[in-house]
Amino acid sequence: MKHLLSTASLAHADASAILDTAEEMSAVSTREVKKLPTLRGRTVVTLFHEDSTRTRVSFEAAAKRLSADVMNFSAKGSSVSKGESLKDTVQTLEALGADAVVMRHAAAGAAHQLAAADWTDCAVVNAGDGTHEHPTQALLDALTLRRGRAAAAGVDPRGTDLAGMRVLIVGDILHSRVARSNVWLLHTLGAEVHLAAPPTLLPVGVEHWPAAVHYDVDVALAAEPDAVMMLRVQAERMGGAFFPSAGEYTRRWGLTDERLAVVERLPGPARDGSGAMILHPGPMNRGVEISSAAADSPLNRVLDQVSHGVSVRMAVLHLLLSGDRGPDRAAEAASP
Ligand code: CP
Repeated sequence: MKHLLSTASLAHADASAILDTAEEMSAVSTREVKKLPTLRGRTVVTLFHEDSTRTRVSFEAAAKRLSADVMNFSAKGSSVSKGESLKDTVQTLEALGADAVVMRHAAAGAAHQLAAADWTDCAVVNAGDGTHEHPTQALLDALTLRRGRAAAAGVDPRGTDLAGMRVLIVGDILHSRVARSNVWLLHTLGAEVHLAAPPTLLPVGVEHWPAAVHYDVDVALAAEPDAVMMLRVQAERMGGAFFPSAGEYTRRWGLTDERLAVVERLPGPARDGSGAMILHPGPMNRGVEISSAAADSPLNRVLDQVSHGVSVRMAVLHLLLSGDRGPDRAAEAASP
């Protein structure tokens, strides 16, 4: 694997290698061991054309915990405002010593363009391209789901898969790169994916995705998902035309206090009635897609997701830059 651009093109073995490597890295990311020397002398650039808190900071933390040098580049305040192209920007950063470029861009396909056009020898990691994909978010979500399932069964997450796990993704699917990356990855890992959204917030062609589509979130909850992933309403991508209205959206599709009570009674990953896991990629719009009670519920894994993001991003950078192919892949390569 030279780049990480999407989960649609990620094979089961590669996704599992990243998740298993993330488990190895988690001892470092939880600070039991402060740092690994694995990327000493390598330089990671975070190149962000859109705002970010979690992704950018966790990539920086991940790179530093692997002893890499980190250069942070924000398009705001850079020579992009003078008209410098993406190609010239990346080649400038490579000339400054970059080995990997972690890029967030408003244009769908920007990371693919960077990798496919051969503009750079750097490893390219897609940290979100428009409404298209956000592969490391889906990987950290998969790690969170896998850990939740393993904890419920009292087993090691490394031996656990997502086969048959039912995951309901709710909300603004149309604008969500998180939803797209999750649909492909969760399907690859064997989970049963359900989507619930207003018809106006579903993309054309969604019926061809490997997911069941619901327009009524209460019907979708009645199918007893193991996990409910609430999406942020991306008003900034709607050009002022938020339809349905915020009030109607919250009432019909939001994780309200009333729906939280339903989620609390779901069988959950242990199938013992202890409730379904709640996930959210963040940032949460409290009072819009999720109530404050649901945001603060013990079932909500949003902060676990954030810390799993460091382990997953350590794994991705390690596998791309160190030449290590991960526990399973290394064993596979060594076998006759
Ligand atoms: N989930 C996510 O991508 O968050 P940020 O926009 O804060 O990076």
